[in-house]
Amino acid sequence: MPGTCVIGLQWGDEAKGKLVDLLAPQFDLVVRYQGGANAGHTVVAGNETYKLHHIPSGILHSQVQNLITPGVVINPSTMIDELDALEKRGIACGSNLRISERAHLVMPWHIVEDRLLNKQHVGNESIGTTLRGIGPCYRDKVGRTHAIRVADLVNGGRDERIRAVAEQKIAILRGLGGSDEELAQLEPSVVAERAAAWAERLRPMIGDTTYLLLDAAEANQQILYEGAQGALLDIDHGTYPFVTSSNSSGVGVCAGAGVPPRWIDEVIGVCKAYSTRVGGGPFPTELEDATGERIRKLGNEYGTTTGRPRRCGWFDAVAVRYTARLSGVTRLALMMMDVLSHLDEIKVCVAYDLDGERIEQLPTHVDALRRCRPIYETIPGWNEPVDDARRVDEFPAGAIDYVRRIEALVGVPVGILSVGPDRAQTIFVDSPVAEAPLR
Ligand code: IMP
Repeated sequence: MPGTCVIGLQWGDEAKGKLVDLLAPQFDLVVRYQGGANAGHTVVAGNETYKLHHIPSGILHSQVQNLITPGVVINPSTMIDELDALEKRGIACGSNLRISERAHLVMPWHIVEDRLLNKQHVGNESIGTTLRGIGPCYRDKVGRTHAIRVADLVNGGRDERIRAVAEQKIAILRGLGGSDEELAQLEPSVVAERAAAWAERLRPMIGDTTYLLLDAAEANQQILYEGAQGALLDIDHGTYPFVTSSNSSGVGVCAGAGVPPRWIDEVIGVCKAYSTRVGGGPFPTELEDATGERIRKLGNEYGTTTGRPRRCGWFDAVAVRYTARLSGVTRLALMMMDVLSHLDEIKVCVAYDLDGERIEQLPTHVDALRRCRPIYETIPGWNEPVDDARRVDEFPAGAIDYVRRIEALVGVPVGILSVGPDRAQTIFVDSPVAEAPLR
């Protein structure tokens, strides 16, 4: 069966890029289907570190066809920088990368709008977006009137369309408090000139991805769908309003990629052995103490896209059980196990206390989630490093117990364990060597 998805089960940054890069050689196509330059996927290959924002992680493998499908929002300028950076390092992007004409463009006014709106609070907290114009671009996509699609970039009427939208955007953003300086960058002639350069550079890669994907699925080709962000940031099913503007859980794959559910048969749910979150919003297991700081330091928990320190906390099994079910996860990839070594004890949140009542479901309303106090189970830590382990039977007993407990609490078997950033630091539990200790 042809379709495998890689979905983040927490609030993003679960090291999905590493996994996709590792799995990519087994696939004919790698598909990026939602989000945009708010995503930052770090891939370490040999001595090289690649930071990708739009381009699927499969680009590092020359035989893989990479698709950016209709659900993605593309910042053309960032995309071109990414292409240039890859090419400088000898990684050619040409016919191995196809960008859907149906995808939408993050225009310069979206960035300004994101900045202006992000200063405003929802309740008493800012959403703390990545300031990449993601929300405003998706809003225009749904609103239609001001949207600009990739197809518009290479179409005859481009300049007229851009000019008309730019004029309206300047008026709207002035009303929102935009400064003369930032609005000057949105002048129709300025944006039209930039758009001409974007079109020239991106034209060879622009085309229809939908037929290509359907043809590939129907021909039984192996397709990997690369999710961005994490399921708790899903616009419909996440910790709204502190979410991103796309369907980042497993339910978003079909709509974003343009593929029917019948062609998807495996969903790998990626989560860290602990939790992190960037930006605002409730985070019941957050640690604002030395342990949280230690996790941040050892896990290098700073945003790939924004450099912001990530909030760190214990593994939240209530949240991950929810997102694993919602995403139809068939096996878990448990990442960053190495970061938890040498702790005396490790806590896992197994339920919440909400106003004195024990609950095991993620509450819908953000205010209720804020009032949730984690109910922890304490598991003894392990005092040996795991970063050199290449098989599960090389894990200390404590680490094996921890993995088993996560499997039981989430209700899905762990198929992959990661013990460091390098490709080699990955253990496939389903392989015959590693199978025994966990099952
Ligand atoms: P936006 O996607 O830039 O609108 O940001 C909305 C929320 O999602 C903010 O809390 C961001 O920090 C978070 N977010 C967006 N993209 C990512 C990501 O790739 N990793 C982690 N958090 C993200």
